[in-house]
Amino acid sequence: MLLAFSTWPEIEDRLTRSKAVVVPIGSNEQHGPTGLLGTDWLCPEIIAHAAEKQGDLLVAPTFNIGMAQHHLGFPGTISLRPSVFQAAIVDWVNSLARHGFTRIYFLNGHGGNVASIEAAFSEIYAGWSFRGEPCPFALKLKNWWDLTGVLRLTREQFPTGHGSHATPAEIAVTQAAYPDFIKSANYAPQIAPNGPIRDAADYRARFADGRIGSDPGLATPEKGRELIDKASTALLGDVEEFENEESPA
Ligand code: NI
Repeated sequence: MLLAFSTWPEIEDRLTRSKAVVVPIGSNEQHGPTGLLGTDWLCPEIIAHAAEKQGDLLVAPTFNIGMAQHHLGFPGTISLRPSVFQAAIVDWVNSLARHGFTRIYFLNGHGGNVASIEAAFSEIYAGWSFRGEPCPFALKLKNWWDLTGVLRLTREQFPTGHGSHATPAEIAVTQAAYPDFIKSANYAPQIAPNGPIRDAADYRARFADGRIGSDPGLATPEKGRELIDKASTALLGDVEEFENEESPA
């Protein structure tokens, strides 16, 4: 069930059966010369929507702008500063919690979001802790590449050249879902350099075409399909486990 394509009575009815919701969350940022700017929000959305087709899952609209300040040296990148991103996450959570969702699961597609999402969760929990009231909902963050079995599959598919930005795995996922938008370019060097992440000017100087440690030329739609299948099945199991988690009280 997709929240955006539902009506409020349908959501009200669903809440009588399930109080879990999945929010795909990512970033709109450069992904090298061949990766789509939407890669980091498309991947969790593609996986969550695939899982929704296979099982009983409610998927919220995709939170598609994240913390990507270091990519701003490349045209098309759109970023929220960490404080604004965190504040927006707090409002998304409070909106969903107000309706009675008690298991709010963020499926993330951008490593640069992790610190801010975790800080936002702490900000929310701190409010309840300071008031001395029990928080009536639980929050979970999962990166799609950390879903069970995905990392092992990625290592088999890409023993070298996976890297950490504009990776062949994430580009393969977008190729499988959107084959009309597969791009090609000559990579020089074939495997991009590694290095630290700082501000946007430093990033552009270190990583000329935007990639970090990766060879996106290894991506194929077939590998992307395998990743989507593995990740979407694992997502269904992970959300079910979260929903059925025993409360200590
Ligand atoms: Ni990415």
